[in-house]
Amino acid sequence: MEVIRVEGGHPLGGEVHVEGAKNSALKLMAASILAPGETTLTNVPDIADVHVMGKVLKRLGATIEVVDAHTLKIDASVVNKWETPYDLVVQMRASTAVLGPLLARFGRAVVAMPGGCNIGARKIDMHILGLEALGVHFEVDHGNIYASAPNGLVGSAVTLDFASVGATENLLMASVHAKGTTTIDNAAREPEIVDLANMLNEMGACVRGAGSPVIEVRGTSEELHPVTHATVGDRIEAGTFIAMAALTGDEVTVSGFDPVHLGLVLRKYEQMGIQIERDATSCVVRRDAPLRSVDIQTLPFPGFPTDMQAQTMCLLALADGNCIVTENVFENRFIFASELKRMGADITIEGHHAIVHGVSRFSGAQVKSPDLRGGAALVMAGLVADGETTVSDIHHIDRGYECFVEKLQGIGAKVERTEVPDFEL
Ligand code: EPZ
Repeated sequence: MEVIRVEGGHPLGGEVHVEGAKNSALKLMAASILAPGETTLTNVPDIADVHVMGKVLKRLGATIEVVDAHTLKIDASVVNKWETPYDLVVQMRASTAVLGPLLARFGRAVVAMPGGCNIGARKIDMHILGLEALGVHFEVDHGNIYASAPNGLVGSAVTLDFASVGATENLLMASVHAKGTTTIDNAAREPEIVDLANMLNEMGACVRGAGSPVIEVRGTSEELHPVTHATVGDRIEAGTFIAMAALTGDEVTVSGFDPVHLGLVLRKYEQMGIQIERDATSCVVRRDAPLRSVDIQTLPFPGFPTDMQAQTMCLLALADGNCIVTENVFENRFIFASELKRMGADITIEGHHAIVHGVSRFSGAQVKSPDLRGGAALVMAGLVADGETTVSDIHHIDRGYECFVEKLQGIGAKVERTEVPDFEL
């Protein structure tokens, strides 16, 4: 079994450059279905989830040329299947992002119902309710969702119960050819939504208000055309490395993203005693004083991102004082905390709340990645733990972090990826 081994106590330093955002690239790839012809995506992260989305598009009939590790040419001239099977959806829930573009271009789609995952039920009821408002008919049979809009989609006013990222994206892509105007109220406002809307407009769609709570899409009967589009920088990968530098206290520069996309995170980190200098595409992070506790509650953007909860919990677990971390987005995203307790953290979970009592040190241990961000945060904890930490189930980390170990080695961490016999863990 592959594991990541970390030897604690080594200072960090230098610069780490982050890739394009996983949570944008996957949807930009899905959006390429909307335009017959060759779409070129640049700054695409070379990660497992992108590879799975590539398989999804090929299953639909598209062809993909990997120009280099970060540039894909997707030719969606021929899309002659409309089904995204369970074996791919179970690997990656974001496969459901093809629902909207398939309905917009072909009026039909079959997508396997996504199962749950380690962080929650991951339902798509809001996607379905919103698309039904646009005239899509759904049937569920044998674990598959059969969606059809034989007479095309009709623009409508949709209000989401919750500012769901995925539901906003599917509605955005589905409505580009709807008859009339669609408004999405209580829309997700994440920077990745804005990136997708920008690409759709470059393709000839008419999307207004992305990044605000109300998005308007004026349907066009004109065929969308393929474009070349650069993926926005990954604010969560950046935040992960910023948290690591904040933890060790050493000066590290994190580049390749827009710090405005991490606004509240950086403000909270400054309240914790972390110094952060920003420019348009990078941050310089250091810390001279002990970490201070602050309360955190995760919310849709511009609230505190749930994808930074585990990394921040790691910081708070070693801060002076006590605090409460409230997870409002996913119902089961504290498994990480249970693993961190194996390293000496003092955390009590009560429903959606984690009560964190700062301790002075972590001790190295064998721990298991519960999910992508929790896994990265466990490696982060190992950077300052006494002794060695072994993190298993690192396939979770590979889903969203390109060259994670190499990047850490590049800023001075004593970390390696290695094979151990299963019985050793
Ligand atoms: C996206 O997931 C991201 N994934 C997640 O990142 C991120 O944590 C999440 O947005 C919130 O920012 C991708 O973009 C691939 P949601 P998504 O729809 O779209 C519930 C990571 O680590 N919900 O905003 O699935 C849902 O169960 C991953 O990079 C419904 O109940 O998030 C969750 O509790 C993890 N019904 C909450 O809403 C629905 O129809 C937020 O989900 C849709 C969602």
